[in-house]
Amino acid sequence: MNARTARPARRNVVVLFIDLVGSTELAERLDPELLRQVLDRYYSACAAGVLEHGGVVEKYIGDAIMAVFGVPTSHEDDALRAIRAAHHALSAVRALGIEIAPTHGIRLDAHCGIASGEAMVVDMPESGLRVIGDTVNTAARLQGAATSGEILLGEDAVRLARTYVRVEEVPPLSLKGKARPVRAWRLLSLEATPQRQDDDLPLIGRSDELMQLTQAYRRVVRNRQCCLVTILGAPGIGKSRLVREFLRTLPEDVTTLVGQCPSYGSGATFRPIAEAIHSLPDAWTGVAPLLDAMNVRALRGLTTPEDGPFTELSVEETARSIRSLIEVLGQRRPTVVVVDNLHWAEPTLLELIEELAGWLADVSVLLICVARPELLDIRPNWGGGMSCALTVEIPQLGEAQMTRLVDALAANRWAGADVVAQSADPTFLSVVRNSDGNPLFAELMFEVLVEEGTDAPPPPTIQALLAARLDRLSDGEREVLERAATIGTTFTTEELGVLWEGEDVDNLVVDAPLRRLLRQRLIRRGTYPTSFQFAQTLARETVYTMTRKELRGAWHLKLADWLSERAHTGPPESDEAEIGRPRYGEIANHLEAACRIRREIHPDDPTLPALAVRAARTLMSDGEQALYRKDLPAAIALLERGRELLPRGDSGHRRLALHICDAAFAHNERDRAYAALDVAEEASPEDPRCGLTCAVQREILAIKFGVHQPELAPLRDALSEYPDDDLSWARFHQLDALILVAQDQFGAATTALNDALSRSRSLEDRYEEDRLLGALCELAQWSPVPVREGLDLCATLSTRFAGDRVIVVPVLVTRARLLALTGDVPGAHDVLDTAERYAGELRLDLALIAVTQVRGLVESLAGQHAAAATLFTRAAVMSRSAGQPAPAWTLQCYAIRELLRHGDVRAVEDGLAWLEVGRRPQLRGELLVACLRALIMSAGENHPEAVALAAWAAERIRSTDDPCLRGDVLMDIATVYRAAGRAAGAVDAAAEAERCYTAKGADLLAGRARDRLATFGETDR
Ligand SMILES: Nc1ncnc2c1ncn2[C@@H]1O[C@H](COP(=O)(O)OP(=O)(O)OP(=O)(O)O)[C@@H](O)[C@H]1O
Ligand SMILES: [Mg+2]
Repeated sequence: MNARTARPARRNVVVLFIDLVGSTELAERLDPELLRQVLDRYYSACAAGVLEHGGVVEKYIGDAIMAVFGVPTSHEDDALRAIRAAHHALSAVRALGIEIAPTHGIRLDAHCGIASGEAMVVDMPESGLRVIGDTVNTAARLQGAATSGEILLGEDAVRLARTYVRVEEVPPLSLKGKARPVRAWRLLSLEATPQRQDDDLPLIGRSDELMQLTQAYRRVVRNRQCCLVTILGAPGIGKSRLVREFLRTLPEDVTTLVGQCPSYGSGATFRPIAEAIHSLPDAWTGVAPLLDAMNVRALRGLTTPEDGPFTELSVEETARSIRSLIEVLGQRRPTVVVVDNLHWAEPTLLELIEELAGWLADVSVLLICVARPELLDIRPNWGGGMSCALTVEIPQLGEAQMTRLVDALAANRWAGADVVAQSADPTFLSVVRNSDGNPLFAELMFEVLVEEGTDAPPPPTIQALLAARLDRLSDGEREVLERAATIGTTFTTEELGVLWEGEDVDNLVVDAPLRRLLRQRLIRRGTYPTSFQFAQTLARETVYTMTRKELRGAWHLKLADWLSERAHTGPPESDEAEIGRPRYGEIANHLEAACRIRREIHPDDPTLPALAVRAARTLMSDGEQALYRKDLPAAIALLERGRELLPRGDSGHRRLALHICDAAFAHNERDRAYAALDVAEEASPEDPRCGLTCAVQREILAIKFGVHQPELAPLRDALSEYPDDDLSWARFHQLDALILVAQDQFGAATTALNDALSRSRSLEDRYEEDRLLGALCELAQWSPVPVREGLDLCATLSTRFAGDRVIVVPVLVTRARLLALTGDVPGAHDVLDTAERYAGELRLDLALIAVTQVRGLVESLAGQHAAAATLFTRAAVMSRSAGQPAPAWTLQCYAIRELLRHGDVRAVEDGLAWLEVGRRPQLRGELLVACLRALIMSAGENHPEAVALAAWAAERIRSTDDPCLRGDVLMDIATVYRAAGRAAGAVDAAAEAERCYTAKGADLLAGRARDRLATFGETDR
């Protein structure tokens, strides 16, 4: 066992349990001494199987044997090795049983269980190897459930060995000591080679690489020479697939030989060559007459070892025969020899290939060697010094190519089904993004995702591949990577240094491993000289999960402390000031991870509650910032994560619930909003104020979601017992304001909001204060608050919110509307241009509706009624598709009014008829429609009905204090009255309108009202 396992480590292992069937009966029937002899033979037969396949016997428990695969070093095929070992053991036990049956009068059979998963591996001199974890229990229980001669496999083990095994699922096992039933599979058969290589999917990309291979082939044929092409790339990147694709492009008369190096096994040196020779259509018999007797003997030994052990022949002799064979083949026809998985080749084979490439002359032979980058660890100068050698590195696929691949995977899986637009599906997108440009990873992830949904952990096969690769690293490299993985996908040497602080380590300890990791392409350079990133995010995850939690927990906390300090003091002044500045949410993530890990491994730690509160508060504060910026999904996620960690009874639950509620409401997640309040009440049983705040907030939700009309009185009574509960009162006044707005009482609503504002100022709650200021500002468009005051508020808020365009946009929209009312149409246009740009860039759909609506108003005020109608219609369409039918309806009314002002009476009639369908009136819309009808009747000389409708509107207008709405309606009434010959009524209405506009400071409209009055005066006096 090497130094690595000397320290306790988390590892992915495969555990195999083998046990004799009916051992009690055996013990009863055999003399103990005889029994011991039998058991010894049984143990050694099983242990031999385990050893041959690279496993370690961890212990003997009674008659059971527990073996582990993946220690001290992981292999991607550990599960397959364990299955092979089990298979081997069962056959050996059966053979032993047959042998002793006649003499001992007993039957011997065994049964096996295999499970794969995480475990703690400890290897101490005093206690030996110990593997601890649930995987061990699962394997033991699977073995217990297996019948005689049966091998039962757990889920991950099946996945890992999937292409080599035929299995049958058995009903889930309710295993002792396990909360949930465990899925299990019975092994039916085991194949020597992978069963799936059907290349169902079209080849994506790789045209450059195919071209390079084709050019090398042409050169070989043209020049009658031997070329060596080495294809290098990460596991699963598509090396073997590329070669298969290339072979398909070759002319029919080309001789092709394909062999694979096995990952382990005795006598494996020339096995790939033997396999390659077998892959010839006539094996090599066609060319046998051209070879000398010695070569023929050697080749026969190589390809049919059972006929004569070729191992008796020297390596040199075998190598010579292979050279001769390929030479003869290459003389006859162009020949392509492929040796795949060369990184597993024995040194002798590597030498043979290099020699072959240098030695073959005047023959057309293309040697293609396929390997992972670690080939260069064993042979840094592979292919060097040859006249015709080329290395092709296979890069990751780009995002567009991965999207095509995932589409193809989906099309393949649901061939014939009506499935469309897979790549747009967020779950499929996650495959594209998270599979690191690696087709195999994408295939494996896709499978898991389709079967188990998005919450499924990364497929074990990917983990096994990466873990095997990481296991080859030195301790120094691994120590760097473990810390780096805890820091994140990107990391700096400075951060690494923080994690070594106090451990007396100089720079060299980090620099040399970093350089080696770069060379192995496990990491890449980042944006700054001292920053790096993991080349594969999945590799980072694997390192992270394989790092002991004890270490991870401590490192996360160290990083959080260091980053918090930097956040306060700021990073040192430098050109690279970005380095070390905490990235958004970073401190919270580290604290949360530290806390979660401590809960898992030290649930009794007395410092845990304080850590949980710290983590919760950091998450909550990040969540508040996200909410402030209106990044709603992020806000909800952060706040809810904070809630998870916040202890029961903490006073923070109340505000937290309001924030989640606000975010969920704005994101239109009704159930989530209500649930936030329920959770807070449940978590604060001793806090009556929390109950009050939640009661008020429930009514706010009721009005916002249109559930019912809230009653204020009972709430006010309840609150009167807590006159200084500013938070509950602040929300109560907001509720009041919302009710008043719904009743079109904008002045009173403004007063209520101001009451809420002063409460929030006592609370020193900036979030609450800002949202109230924002609401007051928006209200200034409709309330009797004079335009000037509104513009002053806009100016103050533009400065106050300057850093955040999301909350500046509504302020700009209000400002534009108010400016237009004063007659500053160009100014309004300018402000709207800015607002529209921000809203477009930030994709603020609701703000874009408001911008479009105010543009309509500005055009209307400027007398451009056709343009205004178009804009209002557009805003109505946008509003409807945003799920807001009532405002959409009102906007459509505005559009129709503009059409009338433009003189398009026919369109108005059509529009009004349309409005009847699915009517959802707001007072504003209702009044507009009444006025429009009255105006049309009036134009059609139907004065009595027009006047009646106008009188109704005049009555209805009393229920709102919106000065501009009142002014607009009164001006229409004046028109109707005047046409009907009711001069005095007309003058009264217009004069009243003028007073409304003037009081508001809507100078443009006030001026127009005065002009109208003046014309009335001239003709009616
Ligand atoms: N360009 C591609 N287009 C479509 N599918 C691909 C592409 N490249 C690879 N695949 C598929 O991805 C899977 C993995 O590819 P392949 O076996 O060739 O990887 P590899 O690089 O040889 O890996 P290893 O080092 O483990 O042998 C295969 O199912 C293969 O068909
Ligand atoms: Mg391959």
